[in-house]
Amino acid sequence: MLDGKKTLFSGMQATGNLTLGNYLGALKNWVTLNEEYQCFFSVVDMHSITVRQDPAELRKRARQLLMIYIAAGLDPEKNCIYYQSHVSGHAELSWILSCFTYMGELNRMTQFKDKAAKHADNINAGLFTYPVLMAADILLYQADVVPVGNDQRQHLELTRDIAIRFNNIYGDVFTIPEAYYGKHAARIMSLQDPSKKMSKSDENPNGSIYLLDDPDTIMRKFKRAVTDSGKEIIYSEDKPGIRNLLDIYASMTGCSVEDAVKEFDGKGYGDFKMAVGEAVVEGLRPLQERYVQLSKDKAYIDQIIKENSEKAGYFASKTLRKVQKKVGFPVKVR
Ligand code: TYM
Repeated sequence: MLDGKKTLFSGMQATGNLTLGNYLGALKNWVTLNEEYQCFFSVVDMHSITVRQDPAELRKRARQLLMIYIAAGLDPEKNCIYYQSHVSGHAELSWILSCFTYMGELNRMTQFKDKAAKHADNINAGLFTYPVLMAADILLYQADVVPVGNDQRQHLELTRDIAIRFNNIYGDVFTIPEAYYGKHAARIMSLQDPSKKMSKSDENPNGSIYLLDDPDTIMRKFKRAVTDSGKEIIYSEDKPGIRNLLDIYASMTGCSVEDAVKEFDGKGYGDFKMAVGEAVVEGLRPLQERYVQLSKDKAYIDQIIKENSEKAGYFASKTLRKVQKKVGFPVKVR
């Protein structure tokens, strides 16, 4: 509890271009929840190097991501928006927690298996212990709630298991976090293959809408979106393409899927796809406009980075000191 509010933590990797999946599955929910909680939104650049990165590109993407958080509507005066690598507590807590995490648990992580298959030439130890760093991110700020997409479910469960295990040994050290998943957008699928999630790393750029795509590109991608056989616009397991478009429409406009189905009753797939495209263009417009303004204001962004990493560091060190003491590290002489 900080300032009488519960705490929220979430983060995104500074890799690739952010997609509509990241926005609807996570960022948009952050904006909805931010008034209610004391929030920490991290640009998790330390996670990004589990896969080889071009240093200059990573730095550029990290800054872009931080500006996108703000452009999406998160006020950096009220929310702690910062780079993970600026707070050393993440790495320090991660080491301690790795001594409370079993190999068997990490071996079961499906994201590790997927990424190891994708990067067979670089299956490094960081890729394997990635979920421990993620647990450290969350537990360092004593987060009550963690809004994420469905693909993070297993990591969140492991975080809870580690925290419960630690608390069982040392007493009430960590808050046990709850995951928060959005209603319809917890898993946005590729526009080209609705059996695959929309992903920053998809080789086919037509499968993903990127948050900074211009309106023409967005409309073109929706026009080309794969639909299903038949003509009806219904929300059904055997119509994954249409279902995905309905999920996108409902979460973008804030209506229910049932209302969206009613609205498009009797319309053709072509018209429907255009309407979804327009909803996305309009929904992203304020973010894109604000992003352009922010990218011109270097001094303001630098100031935010400085102030917020100090703020995050302050809260992180409170938890870290407590944990270090519990496990038996000698207390520093001040
Ligand atoms: P990342 O960077 O892959 O994705 C950021 C957020 O976007 C969500 N997401 C999606 N949601 C719906 N549909 C999709 N197609 C889709 N694609 C991505 C993700 O679920 C996520 O919420 N390990 C995390 C980053 C992380 C983190 C944390 C998150 C590191 N530490 C602590 C929360 C708390 C990741 O790689 O997300």
